[in-house]
Amino acid sequence: MPSVQDAFASGGTLVFGHRGACGHAPMNTLPSFQKVVELGADGTEFDVRLTRDGHMVILHDPTVDDTTDGSGAVSQMTLAEIRELDAGAWFDGEFRGTRIPTLDEVLETLGKSTLINIEIKSEVYHPDGVEAKVADAIHRHKIDDLTIVSSFNPLVLRRFHQAAPHIPIGFLHHPAEPFFLADFMRGLPHAARNPHFSEVNPVYMRWAKAHGYHVNTYTVNNPELGLRLRDLGVSSIISDVPDVILSALRG
Ligand code: G3P
Ligand code: CA
Repeated sequence: MPSVQDAFASGGTLVFGHRGACGHAPMNTLPSFQKVVELGADGTEFDVRLTRDGHMVILHDPTVDDTTDGSGAVSQMTLAEIRELDAGAWFDGEFRGTRIPTLDEVLETLGKSTLINIEIKSEVYHPDGVEAKVADAIHRHKIDDLTIVSSFNPLVLRRFHQAAPHIPIGFLHHPAEPFFLADFMRGLPHAARNPHFSEVNPVYMRWAKAHGYHVNTYTVNNPELGLRLRDLGVSSIISDVPDVILSALRG
C-alpha cells in the first residue's frame, strides 16, 4: 500500500468510499467499512465526533436522530448511551443491531488495507481536544502514512496540524459554507482542498495546481460526472458507490 502522499502524487484519480460504502450499507458503521474494502476502493472517508465524555465515535450528523433509533445531540450523550442505539435498521432490516462504532474499532477493522480520509466534525470554535485524540489514534494504529485528515472547520485543521504536522490535511468546502472560512487557512501548510464537485472546473483546477493542492472532491455517484472530474485532474473522488465510480474509471 503506497502512502497517501505518494498515491496522490501518482497523478491518477483515486476512488474513496464515502462514510464507508454508504450506498450499500448503513453509513459510518462497520458493515459499511467491510463493504468498502470488499469493493476494492483505494480508500475510505468517514466522520469523527466527540461524545460528552470525550470518546471518538463515527457519525455524520450532530444528532443521532436520523440514523439511529434514538434522539439527541452526540455532544450531549455518553459513549455508553450511544452504544445502546441501533444504527443499522433505518437502512435495512438486515443491519438491525449494528452499533455506532468508535474510531478505534473502525481503524482496527480497516487495518492497513486502505487509504483513510478522517473528517473531523466540529461545530464549535473553542478547543475541545478532538484533534490530539485523533492524532493519537492514528499514531497508535500506525497508519500515519495512510491517512489524510479533513475538516470544514479551519481551526480544527490548525490544531490538528500542531498535534501531527507530518500528517497531510485537506480543507473541505461547500458553496453553502461562509466564504471567509478559507481565510483561516492562510499560512497553514495543507496538502489538499476538498471541494464539493459543483465547485470543480478548469479555473478551480488551475488555481489548485498553482497552489500545489491536491483536489479531493465529493460526493460523486454518477459515472459520467466521475469521468469528467477525472479528466479535470482531481486526485480523488469520494463516492457513496465506489464500485460504480471504479467501473467508470477503470472499466
Ligand atoms: O469528506 C467529504 C464529505 O463527506 C463532506 O461532506 O457532509 O458528507 O460530511 P459530508
Ligand atoms: Ca464526511
